[in-house]
Amino acid sequence: MSVVLGCFRNNIVKHLGCTNSLVKGGFSLTKFLSVKALPSDNNASFLSVDIQCRREFADMLSEALLCFGASSTSIDEQHSYVQNEEICISSIYDISKDVRKSITHAADSIGLKYLPCYKVIKGYHSDWIKDIQESFHPVEVTKGLWIVPEWRTPLDLEATNIILNPGLAFGTGDHPTTKLCLLLLHEIIKGGESFLDYGTGSGILAIAALKFGADFAVGIDIDPQAITAARHNATLNNIESDVLQLYLVPSEEINSPSSDNMSTGLEDQIVSFAKPGATVALSGIITEQLPRIIGRYSEFLEDIAVSKMDDWACVSGKKRRI
Ligand SMILES: C[S@@+](CC[C@H](N)C(=O)[O-])C[C@H]1O[C@@H](n2cnc3c(N)ncnc32)[C@H](O)[C@@H]1O
Repeated sequence: MSVVLGCFRNNIVKHLGCTNSLVKGGFSLTKFLSVKALPSDNNASFLSVDIQCRREFADMLSEALLCFGASSTSIDEQHSYVQNEEICISSIYDISKDVRKSITHAADSIGLKYLPCYKVIKGYHSDWIKDIQESFHPVEVTKGLWIVPEWRTPLDLEATNIILNPGLAFGTGDHPTTKLCLLLLHEIIKGGESFLDYGTGSGILAIAALKFGADFAVGIDIDPQAITAARHNATLNNIESDVLQLYLVPSEEINSPSSDNMSTGLEDQIVSFAKPGATVALSGIITEQLPRIIGRYSEFLEDIAVSKMDDWACVSGKKRRI
């Protein structure tokens, strides 16, 4: 048995939110073998960016920003401009990112016809670490499954504790997108599986799969910061590099916001990694986008199931045998 799981950007599935895919039943590694050297500068500074947008677009824009290069986003109700229905999204970017391009692409991907106003302030890695450490507490995803920040002590030593330092990558275990995948993995991993984590971020899902009993996992991402974080997290959880293989893959033209995402076929690509009968799951879907996603994936998957949390959904199914 094999399992593949992943998460890809909003811009790939335009207007569809970040999407995870999980394939159980087998996958091919041959497409992931172009690994680049990873930068690791612990003193690197970061950019703190406040973006103004209308309240009704805040969730979508926030999600799209993550997909176009922001390391984190949060909607700041306190500093929002209530009178004119504008809200402030506080985000963090790695110093190397082109913030204007990211906001332009994110706005475009959710159909905004203008570039939202934004303000950029430079910060230092040590401030970022301090902020993260203060805000990140152990999370019990389901009974017996805890996500524990590296700098905190596990509360239940009998539980499955995933020790995590997200660094500049997405995946603290707090977001419904991640939680829905963790719950699914908890349910379907029985032992001995292989697992592909497509858009691994902090590596949280691959590490969880291995802790639940999978034999082998591969995490891929287009963001070097994600691979750095995932590698660190694997070490924190005593997972060897031959058991969890991590690959930085190039961000291809499929990520262009101008591409027709639904027809360029990332879904074909994701499903192609699975063997017939494998489970494939997609998460990070906003509920109103479900009919379109289900319609698209029905071509490739059978026995489709949907799980929901807040406004988010996870779609899973088995790869058709013909
Ligand atoms: C929302 S995060 C999910 C992280 C983690 N899997 C989780 O569930 O918490 C999405 C991740 O997908 C990565 N990503 C985006 N586009 C991708 C692509 N085309 N191929 C691989 N990874 C991609 C992003 O860099 C990011 O780390």
